[in-house]
Amino acid sequence: MNPALTQFGTQMSHLTGVRAIMKDIIETLRAGRGQEFINLSAGNPVILPEVDQLWRDSTAELLASAEYGEVVGHYGSSQGYQPLINAVLADFNRRYGLSLTDRNILITPGSQSIYFYAANAFGGYTAPPPSPPYQGGARGGSLKHIVLPLSPDYTGYGGVSLIPEAVIACKPTLDIDAAAHRFKYRPDFSQLSIDETTGCVIFSRPCNPTGNVLTDDEVKKIAALAAPFNVPIFIDSAYGPPFPALNFTEMTPIFGDNIVHCMSLSKAGLPGERIGIAIGDQKIIQVLESFQTNMCIH
Ligand SMILES: Cc1ncc(COP(=O)(O)O)c(C=O)c1O
Repeated sequence: MNPALTQFGTQMSHLTGVRAIMKDIIETLRAGRGQEFINLSAGNPVILPEVDQLWRDSTAELLASAEYGEVVGHYGSSQGYQPLINAVLADFNRRYGLSLTDRNILITPGSQSIYFYAANAFGGYTAPPPSPPYQGGARGGSLKHIVLPLSPDYTGYGGVSLIPEAVIACKPTLDIDAAAHRFKYRPDFSQLSIDETTGCVIFSRPCNPTGNVLTDDEVKKIAALAAPFNVPIFIDSAYGPPFPALNFTEMTPIFGDNIVHCMSLSKAGLPGERIGIAIGDQKIIQVLESFQTNMCIH
């Protein structure tokens, strides 16, 4: 059977980013049966015995606890498991002197889903004015861009939007220290345009694949450019502090009215569990939460 696909169906069938890498790996392993490969896989964290033990102990604790039924045997709230939300909330308020409430936090199935929600809730075509006969479909209204302020960035962002033409990436400038054989990527602020045609901004910090860390000042400058247009900034902190803190350059998480700090437990040893955490303004969190609930109604 060869069912006809819609625009979205076609878009979601494409082999983008990580899926393309995974397909390559699976096909190579299958084709090379009998040969010995070192499968470095796509993004899997190294299994550290101490971290592995920590999660085993926590799982054993959960299995033995009265909470097991609540965690596994019940539908949860669409915002996430409340004790996890409370723990993140208390930790962030203590560490960074914030005054977050539980309305500022959303738990998601892996952090990459946050960028999909964001890219499609804030980027793409806005609804056209309701003048009959309405023929706008997905491509009515005006186009809002998903801006990646410094390319190269995470391969997964390439397929993040259902409207591919909405994604734009900016070329960086390079600070070159030839004598030391070093260079640093910098956002090219002369090219970076954030205005009323921008839906949202996404970048990873630290960056996968380059390891570059945008400085605190660069992040604040991007957020300040976006603020007058009410554009949310999603900072993919899958490798950043406070956890897993796999940053090898000093950095501090930056918070702000239009900044959503996005975290993942994948690089802290739990990629199979699919746990992402978005922390930010209540209104933005609500949009993401609705998107999530409407996508997988429960
Ligand atoms: C930049 C970046 N963001 C996020 C993730 C993790 O995503 P998830 O939380 O969906 O596992 C990865 C994993 O490779 C990554 O490299």
